[in-house]
Amino acid sequence: MGPMPTLSHEEDNFLSDVFLTLRKYIQESSEQEKVVNVKSVAELKSLLPPIQADGISYAQLSLELKEILNNSVNTIHPLFLNQLFGGVDVAAWVGEVASALLNPTMATFEIAPLITVMEKRMVQELINLIGFNKGEGIMVTGGSNSNLLSMLCARTNYNPSIRQTGFSHNQFRVYVSAEAHYSFDKAANITGIGTQNLVLVPCNDRGEMIPAELERIIVSDIKDGFTPIMVGVTSGSTVLGAFDPITPIAKICDAHQIWLHVDAAWGGGALFSKKNRFLLKGIELADSVTFDAHKILGAPMVTSFFLTKHAGILRTTNRGGGAEYLFHEYDNSDWDTGTYSLQCGRRADALKLWLLWRVHGSEGIGQRTDQLFDLAKFTTHEIQNHSRFKFIHAHYLNVCFQIKPHSSKKDINTFTLEVREALVKEGRALINYAKRADGTIFFRLVFPNHKTTKQHIIQLLKLIVDKADFIENN
Ligand SMILES: Cc1ncc(COP(=O)(O)O)c(C=O)c1O
Repeated sequence: MGPMPTLSHEEDNFLSDVFLTLRKYIQESSEQEKVVNVKSVAELKSLLPPIQADGISYAQLSLELKEILNNSVNTIHPLFLNQLFGGVDVAAWVGEVASALLNPTMATFEIAPLITVMEKRMVQELINLIGFNKGEGIMVTGGSNSNLLSMLCARTNYNPSIRQTGFSHNQFRVYVSAEAHYSFDKAANITGIGTQNLVLVPCNDRGEMIPAELERIIVSDIKDGFTPIMVGVTSGSTVLGAFDPITPIAKICDAHQIWLHVDAAWGGGALFSKKNRFLLKGIELADSVTFDAHKILGAPMVTSFFLTKHAGILRTTNRGGGAEYLFHEYDNSDWDTGTYSLQCGRRADALKLWLLWRVHGSEGIGQRTDQLFDLAKFTTHEIQNHSRFKFIHAHYLNVCFQIKPHSSKKDINTFTLEVREALVKEGRALINYAKRADGTIFFRLVFPNHKTTKQHIIQLLKLIVDKADFIENN
């Protein structure tokens, strides 16, 4: 008898079948009428048969996978415009599949030698792109996690021994704009700084932090005995696409010796664009940066980086005791990223971005990004020139608007929400909405999806108007 093959005949057939299914899913996603076939929880439960004691055949599994795909939200559909990610980059997607196959942990160089070098190479490329003279970084489990790391590093920067001692008389303060991502709130909780010590600095009507307000609050906090340790600038806010002015904020941080973090999870992709990188002017003044390649670069979730100009601070912040079983002394132990990551096991996320970056190149990524800007501009123009839409705001890749009812008895905010709910139920397009403090409810259209074209936008706007008419006429 020869050696056992790695794959049984059934597994082999399953793999071939699944490859065709996935390829077809990608090929046909643009032509699908629906982004999602909305179902009730009861219907969804009925789609999932009970797990049998003796399992099922691979042939049956293949059929079930098709059902799962057909009954999930198609985030690669060109009219999936609900979130700050969407579409599919085939190279990066293959990277995702291959990294799950290789399945190393990035904790030690020994287990992930090539991908560790790859990750470090990309960290260096991003550091160069930002304009730091030197620095370090690590891939993390999302932009939120990167914002958390920024707060931990700010704490270390203030007092490196807090890692051991903790702190009992908490008087730290962290400042972000009122439009900042909610992950800072979570980070304030996790770091022990406390959510009440996360200060939301007022913004102007474009959603940008007002530096004079920041300075006023910091000065007043210092007078009251607080210790400001970090300012988190947003470069590309989630709802309005706002970019806080980095240079004047950096001056304030410098004057008060405060760690400056730039959350460029949504806006960082613009660094690749010669035309649009001005949006992040001054980013090189930051102490640390959050960068998500799973947003406008188009890599699958999660492909995130934390980058800092302070080489060594990650290890001081995250080194953990008692892991001799894992971290041994050897030639390349300096390359063990687990000695400065937050988690132990860490996925090989680098491979997705590496394949994407290799195939498109830096300039190619920049041009692809510029196309998203063109699409946002085109959409803004269409909305501004359409009698049924009320334009609210457009900046970066965020376009905000409402749909006007014909009837003067209907309130535009509730009507916009009503139309959005009907659109979601129908499932032919998914776009999100947001609410301002003054009660204004508006569609927030975003453009991370490289598969979306101008034709799709025209189709989307028509869907919205048709749905509005249908609601009013029925
Ligand atoms: C501005 C901003 N920062 C951070 C995040 C968090 O990123 P992630 O979803 O990768 O955790 C988001 C998510 O949309 C965001 O919009």
